Amino acid sequence: MKIHKLEFNKDKKTILTGDRPTGHLHLGHFVGSLRQRVELQNSGDYNMFVMIADSQAMTDNFNNPMKVKSNVMNVVLDYLSVGIDPTKTTIFIQSEVNALTELTFYYMNLVTVSRLQRNPTVKEELKLRGFEQSIPSGFLNYPVSQAADITAFKADLVPVGVDQLPMLEQTNEIVDSFNRIYGETLVRCQPMLADNKKAQRLPGLDGKSKMSKSLNNGIYLCDPTEEVKKKVMSMYTDPDHIKVEDPGKVEDNAVFLYLDIFSTDELIQKYSDYQNLDEMKEHYKRGGLGDVKIKMVLFNIIEEILTPIREKRKYYEEHMDEVKEILRVGTEHAKEIANQTLADAKKAMMLDYEF
Ligand code: TRP
Repeated sequence: MKIHKLEFNKDKKTILTGDRPTGHLHLGHFVGSLRQRVELQNSGDYNMFVMIADSQAMTDNFNNPMKVKSNVMNVVLDYLSVGIDPTKTTIFIQSEVNALTELTFYYMNLVTVSRLQRNPTVKEELKLRGFEQSIPSGFLNYPVSQAADITAFKADLVPVGVDQLPMLEQTNEIVDSFNRIYGETLVRCQPMLADNKKAQRLPGLDGKSKMSKSLNNGIYLCDPTEEVKKKVMSMYTDPDHIKVEDPGKVEDNAVFLYLDIFSTDELIQKYSDYQNLDEMKEHYKRGGLGDVKIKMVLFNIIEEILTPIREKRKYYEEHMDEVKEILRVGTEHAKEIANQTLADAKKAMMLDYEF
């Protein structure tokens, strides 16, 4: 297959998203953002960019470059397997686009250290990584680099999870400062959250914390059937629902939280004797519906979602040359756009020279 560089259409809005390549993507990513990205892409209404944020991943994995390196391809394959389509979306690698690093350097002048330390997402992550006592300045600055990512593409819309909202707020502050000091150059952005509130925060298999790469409590898009079955069967339900006849609780019951997000009436009818999820919940609450049964329904529904994803992944795994070409062409396109913004920004800052 020949991969073509996409046209940038100035009349359309632009969307940019990205992920740090630090692990395989999981179902939380799928319902929280990947599914929505594919819909946005297929609408044809946007210039769409998806970035593998390998430079950003280095800010907290600088001492483990192999982890970042090995996950770049994993994330690319995850993207392609869920239906991110290189004929509609530009997929590129952050570290290859020099303009992003250069913009970061200039934006750093517009942000104070205390403002970065007050960023709630940064604060949370510093704690998580034990960086509080001795903060690497690169890590502290990653919101500035993220502002560079977003503004380099003049992105109007950024589909993200709620945890990323402080990043976008900080980006817009940088945009405002830049435009005020140097003249109207950069474009403000807006977040786009998954429309289903519950999907914004898929819990882990334990039903408690969020599904996350670092906690390893998730179902990965590339998990084989047997692994998915094992994981679903190990899920947290209602600890007081011991015998099948016991009445059960559906609140805080991870299996029902997942069914809320993944099931449709059609799927419930296909894999159970109920007409819809409410009927199934009523039976569970009354008693007489066992955990193995509800887990089997969920397992089948998840398999229905993952099967086409696995097939696409298999195709690309067998066509790695095509994947590399997708990245080469996508990155080339990204460079052109980001270089243009860098040129505009340098001109505004009077850092343009004619020799
Ligand atoms: N911070 C995002 C994450 O942790 C990744 C990211 C980097 C990103 N640059 C971005 C997301 C620009 C949206 C836009 O997943």
